[in-house]
Amino acid sequence: MNKITVGVLGASGYAGRELCELVARHPAMELGFASANSRAGERVRAAGQSITLIPTDDAQLDSADLVFSALPHGTSATWVEAAASAGAKVVDLSADLRPGNGSGQRVEAVPYGLTELMRPELLDADIVANPGCYPTAILIALAPLLARSLVVKGATINVSAASGTTGAGFTPKPELMFAEVAEDFRAYSVGNEHRHLNEMRAVVSNLGGDNDILFTPHLLPVARGILATITVPVTERLTNPIQLWQEMYGHEPFIEVSDTPPSLRDVVRRNVVRLSVVHAANVRQPTLVIVAAIDNLMKGAAGQAIQNANLMLGIPEIAGLPS
Ligand SMILES: NC(=O)c1ccc[n+]([C@@H]2O[C@H](COP(=O)([O-])OP(=O)(O)OC[C@H]3O[C@@H](n4cnc5c(N)ncnc54)[C@H](OP(=O)(O)O)[C@@H]3O)[C@@H](O)[C@H]2O)c1
Repeated sequence: MNKITVGVLGASGYAGRELCELVARHPAMELGFASANSRAGERVRAAGQSITLIPTDDAQLDSADLVFSALPHGTSATWVEAAASAGAKVVDLSADLRPGNGSGQRVEAVPYGLTELMRPELLDADIVANPGCYPTAILIALAPLLARSLVVKGATINVSAASGTTGAGFTPKPELMFAEVAEDFRAYSVGNEHRHLNEMRAVVSNLGGDNDILFTPHLLPVARGILATITVPVTERLTNPIQLWQEMYGHEPFIEVSDTPPSLRDVVRRNVVRLSVVHAANVRQPTLVIVAAIDNLMKGAAGQAIQNANLMLGIPEIAGLPS
């Protein structure tokens, strides 16, 4: 069988390395090139293969059927354009082309790759904007309520979430050194100012919600994983709330609806969103508490990017993804 040639831009970063690993193990893909910036020339291992990272400027974009861009925001969009112009399909893992970021027709024309909600738009798409890691967990959790207009109009959705340190990328930062992170737990971007907020607000609005989101992220002293606790004021007390998620996601291979709150151990190194939901006791207004967990580098980045690429290429959606 002829394999699909894939290029990874930003392959020395956390998301890019995960992509190389998944592509190397994928039954229908082969890695054509893997690029880096300051670490060009270094060798990395993916699925037992040794790969030499080339400078991004040297990447033969026209040799690839599909390119993943795991470059930083601001840098990525130019390379996405270049790869698309060279004839490759492109999955952009940066925020550059996601809803709520940038402006203009380009963003509107590019499908948002929250796979389970946007599948029809992703089939045969030429470029897809892969979602952010926090938005993946939070929007998948909220979608069944928004689809049925069950969130109180104008109410604030409160999200307290925590991520492992790979969410911040590979670039060294003093506050991410082992001794600063280990055995500690702290909030960051406090005051509703995290860069993922615009993306979540835009998609909630696109899904029919009229709500504010109050989002407080925290830094977990682990390498990977996100756990989000989402508090949602709802219009009525539901007899069996979990049924909504079971109905919407029961057939989905990468969404797990659980009777008990998920933990990171349930999801790390897997391409899944795992979530639970209950009504909050001891409050006057009907309120749901949803807990959602993902691996930020898998369903939050590289895994979902492969899922989207599979759809764009017309191959089985689950191909090459650990269940
Ligand atoms: N980490 C996550 O959990 C996560 C989740 C979802 C989405 N994303 C998105 O995925 C993208 C990559 O994230 P990451 O965490 O993997 O970042 P990262 O670890 O910092 O890696 C960034 C990559 O881009 C390269 N790079 C940096 N500046 C460049 C430039 N000016 N020109 C060309 N290449 C350049 C780096 O190369 P050198 O190292 O060789 O300099 C590295 O390969 C970002 O847009 C991020 O928002 C990340």
